[in-house]
Amino acid sequence: MNVGIIGGGTMGSGIAQVAATSGCKVKLYDTNQAALDKAKGSLEKVLLRLIEKGRIDTSEKDRIQTNIAYVSNLKDLADSNLTIEAIVENLDIKKKVFSELESYVAEDCIIASNTSSLSIASIAAALKKPERCVGIHFFNPAPLMKLVEVIPAIQTSKEVLEKSIQTIKDWKKIVAVAKDTPGFIVNRVARPFYGEALRIYEEGVADFATIDHSLKSLGGFRMGPFELMDFIGNDVNYTVTETVFTAFYFDPRYKPSFTQKRFSEAGYLGRKSGKGFYDYDANGRIVIPSDAKESQDEKLAQQIFNRVLVMLINEAADALFLNIASAEDMDIAMTKGVNYPKGLLAWADEKGIDWCVEKLDALYNEYHEDRYRCSPLLRKMNRENITFF
Ligand code: NAI
Repeated sequence: MNVGIIGGGTMGSGIAQVAATSGCKVKLYDTNQAALDKAKGSLEKVLLRLIEKGRIDTSEKDRIQTNIAYVSNLKDLADSNLTIEAIVENLDIKKKVFSELESYVAEDCIIASNTSSLSIASIAAALKKPERCVGIHFFNPAPLMKLVEVIPAIQTSKEVLEKSIQTIKDWKKIVAVAKDTPGFIVNRVARPFYGEALRIYEEGVADFATIDHSLKSLGGFRMGPFELMDFIGNDVNYTVTETVFTAFYFDPRYKPSFTQKRFSEAGYLGRKSGKGFYDYDANGRIVIPSDAKESQDEKLAQQIFNRVLVMLINEAADALFLNIASAEDMDIAMTKGVNYPKGLLAWADEKGIDWCVEKLDALYNEYHEDRYRCSPLLRKMNRENITFF
């Protein structure tokens, strides 16, 4: 299979590696020669590390490298069976590239986008044959993260969707199919992990370290929300939240936080800037100040964990209610895309649907904010005494 990748930055170069490893002939295209040189150099380093670890041998390294050609002319992608675009997140620029690309490739070439926040329908509209367009959304770093969200636009043909799913499975990835709605699955359902943690902090209930400790020790999350926001970058994480909030017509459930906005404005971006919610040393490790100590109040920790968890469950349940994905794909997306210790719907079953409804109603009764409304699906399931799985 001939695969054309458009954009050789963080995502494009990772996707090229995935496709080449699976035996595809890849052409990686970028307008910036320096980006192509960097992509080539990083692949060399990554493959040498894999040899050191004994995962591949030199012939495998040669095979992967010879499968990738670095090109600086869009026309060079003319013989592609599938193209995946991973350029700058700008609708006008993407549309221009898609429309030019379509004039070079064959009638049956699938034209996919790796966009995180734009609608696939809006990108597809730039094509003469919009039915060949689909969203294929990888997670960073693409070679390591197992999950790929596949997103059919309303224009996408069934055949294009099925072929795309099969190809991604052939590349040894796990597919979750998502509806073309803001944030798809992961970037929507994960919002309360950050948003509710920030809200708890803003109310003065607990500090960053205590909130992180609650989620890690009681929930088994690998990183607490504040560590994770620092890791992602407060600028990047804030922008995703703001984009999702706007795209959902300002639903208060996705409301961004002033705390994170101020951190971002101040340049306290997290690990990459040496300071975020925590301070970092030159190796990117958190520096714990000698006077900092998370609270040992177990009741408080439990309250924090319950509140964040039930908001996450509510988000997943509501996404299922609105047919964004199947229950199975919803849970696969969160465990394989963002390494949650359990799928949120399975977690809801474990806690009990009645527990979820009760906790959400308690929050709603306390705040009287629409943000805390319980999903109609949870309420119905509770009434009918049914579980997700
Ligand atoms: P990046 O900035 O690392 O790379 C973008 C590359 O595209 C650059 O090398 C740039 O030279 C090239 N480029 C820009 N305009 C171009 C054009 N008109 N023609 C050809 N090449 C062009 O960006 P990154 O992070 O790889 O993101 C790319 C896409 O993937 C975006 O749509 C983003 O939303 C999406 N995405 C990003 C994730 C991430 O964690 N970084 C995760 C999942 C999706």
